[in-house]
Amino acid sequence: MKILAIETSCDETGVAILESPRAEFGQPVEILSNLVASQISVHRRWGGVVPNLARREHQRNLIPLLSQSLRETKTIKSQWRWALSSREKKIISESLNREPRLSKKLTRFLKQGTRPEIDLLAVTIGPGLEPALWTGANLTLALSQIWQIPFVPVNHVEAHIVANWLDDSRPQEWPIIALVVSGGHTELILMENSSSYKIIGRTRDDAAGECFDKTARVLDLGYPGGPIISKLAEEWRIADQEKAPAEIKEISLPRPMIGSRDYDFSFSGLKTAVLYRHQSYPERIKRSPYYKIKMAAEIEDAINDVLINKTIEAAKQHQAKTILIGGGVAANQSLRHRLTEQARESGFNLFRPPIKFCTDNAAMIGLTGLKHSKKASLSDTIKVNANLNL
Ligand code: KG4
Ligand code: ZN
Repeated sequence: MKILAIETSCDETGVAILESPRAEFGQPVEILSNLVASQISVHRRWGGVVPNLARREHQRNLIPLLSQSLRETKTIKSQWRWALSSREKKIISESLNREPRLSKKLTRFLKQGTRPEIDLLAVTIGPGLEPALWTGANLTLALSQIWQIPFVPVNHVEAHIVANWLDDSRPQEWPIIALVVSGGHTELILMENSSSYKIIGRTRDDAAGECFDKTARVLDLGYPGGPIISKLAEEWRIADQEKAPAEIKEISLPRPMIGSRDYDFSFSGLKTAVLYRHQSYPERIKRSPYYKIKMAAEIEDAINDVLINKTIEAAKQHQAKTILIGGGVAANQSLRHRLTEQARESGFNLFRPPIKFCTDNAAMIGLTGLKHSKKASLSDTIKVNANLNL
């Protein structure tokens, strides 16, 4: 079974093609193509993702990525046609009437190729930024109807969890505690089996990734904050810390809700703490080469201390066998390393997707589509939900 997957929930346009020997989840799958067009340079100057700009970029990127992935996997044959049938034109105008740029590109693309050898389409329908979600969903609906290939709507948070099954070593022992940490989500989820998801804790305000991004903005470090803070934090760890001014060595930030006896999180206070402290330091301190790297290390440690502490506690309380992580923040090396150590010490299996499957990508959407392939349909409508729950 070949699956074509599309991801447009935030600021990465993703298109992937997966092949699975059977329409069954849990077996090895082959990732034939996994393309991501990042929009970081577009959003950087605004310091965060601008939903309508994200949508515009998805409209621009989707067809080139689709065409490249189908061609590089030899899933489509070239065939030039002068015009589309009236049925095809009607589907495009109805499904993409709010995406004029995409509709033109799709028309041009369809004139150049045959129906591809794809059995299933999978697309993210939420949670995410609504204008961005619609772009991928509308395109998928049009492709499904024109090619008569069924589609499965996919939950983006579930896909971040399922990303752990893309690798050769796959989680196999339940119960599982899953920590999903991204730009929009911080959730602890209990999985009693492969199809049950129970949210046992979540952030009450900002997500962990959002905290990385916002604190990076306060310190004027650039966007997205997570990878930048992580790199600077590492510089502090290998620096000759004794040479740093005492005020810098003493910088310490709160670990919000670390002792709260539940699995909820709150990161907005950490951002405020960074802001107040940053405003209070004299220029002499802020200009020190140690200042930003120490701040970065403290931010990273504060976020990770809370994430790790609560995840291990949850795994103990629920007698989990396995802990897994997913989402953009799961790409954080310090989190990966520390959680692996602590999980091992406490006797849990720890799974973490390869970095390229932590940040947004369509391979994880394809595998989640396969997991729910029984729900696939040739429906002539599709709905997105920016606040979709698991
Ligand atoms: O999953 P993702 O690509 O998009 C959403 O679904 O939100 O996550 C993006 C988030 C951003 O907040 C980014 O700063 C964070 O993941 N991130 C990281 C790292 N790489 C990406 N945070 C910490 N360390 C990283 N290495
Ligand atoms: Zn994501």
